[in-house]
Amino acid sequence: MEKITIIGAGNVGAHAAVSAATLELGNIVLLDQNADLAKGKALDITQSMALIQSDVIVSGTGDYKETADSAIVIITAGVSRKPGMSRDDLLHINADIMESIVKQVVEYSPDCILIVVTNPINTMVQLAYEVSGFAKDRVIGMAGILDGGRFKYFIAQELNVGASEVVTMVLGDHGELMVPLEDHCQVNGQPIAELLSRDRIEAIVNRVQHAGSEIVNLLKTGSSYFAPGLAVIQMAKSIIRDEHKTMPCAVYLEGEYGVDGAFVGVPVALGRKGVEKVVEIHLSDKESDAFKLSVKHIKERTETLNKKRQLATD
Ligand code: 2OP
Repeated sequence: MEKITIIGAGNVGAHAAVSAATLELGNIVLLDQNADLAKGKALDITQSMALIQSDVIVSGTGDYKETADSAIVIITAGVSRKPGMSRDDLLHINADIMESIVKQVVEYSPDCILIVVTNPINTMVQLAYEVSGFAKDRVIGMAGILDGGRFKYFIAQELNVGASEVVTMVLGDHGELMVPLEDHCQVNGQPIAELLSRDRIEAIVNRVQHAGSEIVNLLKTGSSYFAPGLAVIQMAKSIIRDEHKTMPCAVYLEGEYGVDGAFVGVPVALGRKGVEKVVEIHLSDKESDAFKLSVKHIKERTETLNKKRQLATD
């Protein structure tokens, strides 16, 4: 079995570990600076595997040596939002954490595929790309699968259909300027514009864009973890099993969608080598305008971080 490492044994990391173990994607190393937290959760998860006759081992550690030669490393570590905070408020604190993690990951797993879940994702994944020195097809941010799942659920709830009957796609930044593609959203082949009023569509799109905050405000102590933990494992599964599935992920664009030099959520095919291709779908004028605004925000945030890092090294 191949090795999958998950950095950060908080709620997202632990749920990603449970999802990966349940799917038997590989043996899992759960690493946290609090080694006992990682060891305790790993023991608990491995014992749950025995209940379903699975031989998957989840081991907990605080030592990067144990992550050596991982096929995939998923980074979930970092500070999560509290009520009233935006994902952008986590920029500088999580950047410091990300930089130190990536250096250690690369030392022990120079051939791995890196998946970043830490917020603000589109900028954290760009930092991971730069610090790792990896090729762009081996550094990927999670986001669109989670946001697309939320969009599906809200439409299904509104129309009283199964979520599996709804097709969605969410592109751009994983933030309030994310772009749920309303003109591409369909239920059993029917565009949602034929099923819902403009006002209802706008209300649902707005709810998708604020779905993370809705959960933060309810939990009060942190952000969502069940759906993000499962979403990142959908990506890991397509990679480790070489499924070539297309799903929206934050990847480095060099000309695709008219974007150069930024990690933006777009549909990509994922296989054993990482990003196999960027799928370019035609956006409506409205979607395209929203996408441009979202990319502008990603670039501005990344620029803010780069300026601070530059100052620190001057
Ligand atoms: C969310 O959208 C945690 O950013 C994540 O819930």
